[in-house]
Amino acid sequence: MFQMLCCSRHGAAVLPGWRSCCLLLLVLLRCWALDHRPGGALTVVESTMGGGGGTGDEDPEATVDDDDDEDDNLEVLQPNEHWQTLKPGQAVPAGSHVRLNLQTGQREVRLGEEQLKYWTQEHREPSIDPDELKRAMKKMKEEMKSQDSVASRFRPLEELKKDMAELDLLVETDVQIMKRLLEQFNSSSSSTEQRLSILLELEYLVHQVDNAQTLCSMGGLSLILDGLNSSDIRLQENSALVLGSAAASNPVVQVHAVEGGALQTLLTSLATAQQLSVRKKVLFALASLLRHFPYAQRHFLSHGGLTILSELFRADVGGILRTRIVTMLYDMITEKVLIFQAGPDPVQDPSHEERQRQYAQVSLQEELMEKGWCRLVPQLLQSSEHDYREKALRALLAMAPVCLDQYRSDPSLLGSLHSLQLQYLELVRSETILGDDSSYFTEMVELIDTLQVKVR
Ligand SMILES: *[C@@H]1O[C@H](CO)[C@@H](O)[C@H](O)[C@H]1NC(C)=O
Ligand SMILES: *[C@@H]1O[C@H](CO)[C@@H](O)[C@H](O)[C@H]1NC(C)=O
Repeated sequence: MFQMLCCSRHGAAVLPGWRSCCLLLLVLLRCWALDHRPGGALTVVESTMGGGGGTGDEDPEATVDDDDDEDDNLEVLQPNEHWQTLKPGQAVPAGSHVRLNLQTGQREVRLGEEQLKYWTQEHREPSIDPDELKRAMKKMKEEMKSQDSVASRFRPLEELKKDMAELDLLVETDVQIMKRLLEQFNSSSSSTEQRLSILLELEYLVHQVDNAQTLCSMGGLSLILDGLNSSDIRLQENSALVLGSAAASNPVVQVHAVEGGALQTLLTSLATAQQLSVRKKVLFALASLLRHFPYAQRHFLSHGGLTILSELFRADVGGILRTRIVTMLYDMITEKVLIFQAGPDPVQDPSHEERQRQYAQVSLQEELMEKGWCRLVPQLLQSSEHDYREKALRALLAMAPVCLDQYRSDPSLLGSLHSLQLQYLELVRSETILGDDSSYFTEMVELIDTLQVKVR
């Protein structure tokens, strides 16, 4: 899809006249062929799976290697906005949100929040329907035939080849685009507005695993980190967005970024940023950097990350940051639990032991308890948003192994659970009477019940 868009953006649009018609056809054919190569790196599944390492997936088999060939054998579950149970051996596209259902022990997947937010909404691309494309090409062929039958049908092969060669020159590859963008970004003559639009283009490009790695190898990360440290709020925000998108499910970028000092820069900027919009995006970048990366998680903890997060949590009255923080912590807890859990699918992964060893050094749960999170997370239950409460309940369950004593002696938590239970039972009842789907509220009741049983 992307290649197609790229071709039409950077190739065909610049050519005039009849020639452009012919070239456009060639471009379209070329793009279409690229996009539909069965084993090509540009098909949707391939491009989402291409990173191999740490897609949103918790499956160790799908998270370790970068080998594209391996991925061909994986069955890929396409997530939507509802939770679906992940069967053994199934993989999910990068950025999906995978959780462990603590009641059933099964893994469930849906579209990741950042995917939903940053991709579906802000980046809704004009998609090109293959049928539409075929119709357009057919029409073009007919027009060309009627215009100039002999000349167009019997053009010398050499001439066609020349057109093809010109095309290669005209179609700017992603690598060339990124090189140009980074040079412009780095140029002292670029204005802030120009830098902002460059960041937007980069953010779009780095969703592709290869592009994000190219950004690293071109030294782009340090420019992005400078942007994060800039005094301009919009530059900070958009730099964080580029960093987060590049690091998401991309182990190579994660390693580069942490080596380049991204963790410290992000934590500093999280501690100092005043605007919610900046905090949100920096938090997104931080979460991308930490996911499936125990080394970074350990350094996050030793650099006082939890203290900074708890300050943010306390200061956030609206609840959106609280929810994102709690979700991020929940993801980190379950990711570690899954590594140590003998999953439903046998693990044939030689690096598994090493990963267990690395995760063993991340004492997240203990630190959460020491830094007061057993008392903090329950505060999120007081939100009026179902979704926020759900996140809180899941996190509370995940933290239960270290927090139970504190839960038991927390009258406001016990009170919240009791009143939420009544509220959701009532919601289930009224939805059922109305004949509406009550499954979400039923799930909430079950979460509350499970937690109450533990606390009892
Ligand atoms: C940015 O420009 C400086 C010189 O002005 C150069 O040393 C540096 O390598 C450039 N960085 C990138 C990523 O192009
Ligand atoms: C960020 O900017 C401050 C000054 O505004 C500077 O002291 C610090 O070294 C910069 N950090 C990075 C990583 O560039």
